Amino acid sequence: MKVLVVGSGGREHAIVDALFRSPSVEKIYCAPGNAGIAQQAECVAIKDTDVEGLKAFALENAIDLTVVGPEAALAVGIADEFRKAGLPIFGHTKSAARIESSKEFAKELMAKYDIPTAGYKAFDNYDEAVAYVEARPLPAVLKYDGLAAGKGVVIAETMDEAREALRDMLLDDRFGKGRVVVEDFLTGPEFSLMCFVEGENVYPMPVAQDHKRAFDGDKGPNTGGMGAYTSLPFITEDDLEFAMEKVMRPTAKAMVAEGCPLTGVLYGGLMKTPDGVKVIEFNARFGDPETEVVLPLIDSDIANVFEAVAKGEKPAEIVWSKDVTLGIVLASKGYPGDYAKGFVIRGTEKVDGTVFHMGTAVKDGELVTAGGRVLFVVAKGATLADAHRKANEEVAKIECDNLFHRTDIGHKAFK
Ligand code: AMP
Ligand code: GLY
Repeated sequence: MKVLVVGSGGREHAIVDALFRSPSVEKIYCAPGNAGIAQQAECVAIKDTDVEGLKAFALENAIDLTVVGPEAALAVGIADEFRKAGLPIFGHTKSAARIESSKEFAKELMAKYDIPTAGYKAFDNYDEAVAYVEARPLPAVLKYDGLAAGKGVVIAETMDEAREALRDMLLDDRFGKGRVVVEDFLTGPEFSLMCFVEGENVYPMPVAQDHKRAFDGDKGPNTGGMGAYTSLPFITEDDLEFAMEKVMRPTAKAMVAEGCPLTGVLYGGLMKTPDGVKVIEFNARFGDPETEVVLPLIDSDIANVFEAVAKGEKPAEIVWSKDVTLGIVLASKGYPGDYAKGFVIRGTEKVDGTVFHMGTAVKDGELVTAGGRVLFVVAKGATLADAHRKANEEVAKIECDNLFHRTDIGHKAFK
């Protein structure tokens, strides 16, 4: 098979790495890719949302299978266009991707099909939204409806904060003209359950947990994720079965019933609340950085899984390693705010484990920082404690003047 992977981050590096291990893959292209991906795939300079450019490339190069990483590419209809052109693609249609791109669509779907989630109401009027929030207990959960690159959620502890956020979202249109979903505040540990989904067929991957805050102790601003691990001791087999039977499978079924079947990854951002597992959000794609800890554990040929889902067939049984993985992000100082780029990175070749590139480039023959999140170091172990120790040891081998990382990834599992 000749495979094209769309995207350029650590998630896409993990996808390329899994494909690289596949015996049925002969050639991997990645558009646009990055400096790390270039070691395992041929990078082609086409933007991930340039659907026409990507389609022309796939047709010219007789690509057998395309795998899409980022939501932005799905939201502009890459899967619809590829399918029309007879090109097999792993990724949802624009209409199915609404499960991520529209919070209100996702909330209505869950209400209609009894999928457990926080109670909510949607607003486009500022005064009505404020009146609703005033009448309810704080904190208030305010979600801008649309793709806001993870910045569209505000947990307001006070009415002043709530008013300010609603003003941003509904009066000043900071993210564009949109609506706001106001949700009940839930509590409990969060976890990510990703599944390969083809219509009503749902195949779970190992669960993982992301770490959103920038600094140790879950302090500092929210980021795109500073680390992740698999094997969560506080999520039991019963919780998983509940999540599969009451959330993931019914959601796949509901999407078929609504005429927009899923054909890619369904990511459940779930919370184990005192009233059971509930949905915080759905994503229509692989999570980042969860993918970088989950895919190294696949023992089956991932190309066959992607191909089966893309073609509406049943994949062979998917086998996962019993090992545990833990990964640490190395980010540019200043991230998630402003940061400088172009700092030389040394020592990646000394790491005993996997180094996924999130935002790197090669300049004058040297590896340099080129993004907010730069590298992701993943260690494998028989236990989480092993993986934690090893990941921290390996991160220390990387030398760069402008990177920082968390040392407490997995801390919720060690309590
Ligand atoms: P989201 O972008 O929807 O994943 O939300 C970002 C983060 O906000 C989540 O990871 C949760 O920690 C938090 N959050 C979102 N919705 C709720 C909710 N209804 N109750 C409590 N926390 C929430
Ligand atoms: N790790 C959260 C996400 O991918 O959206």
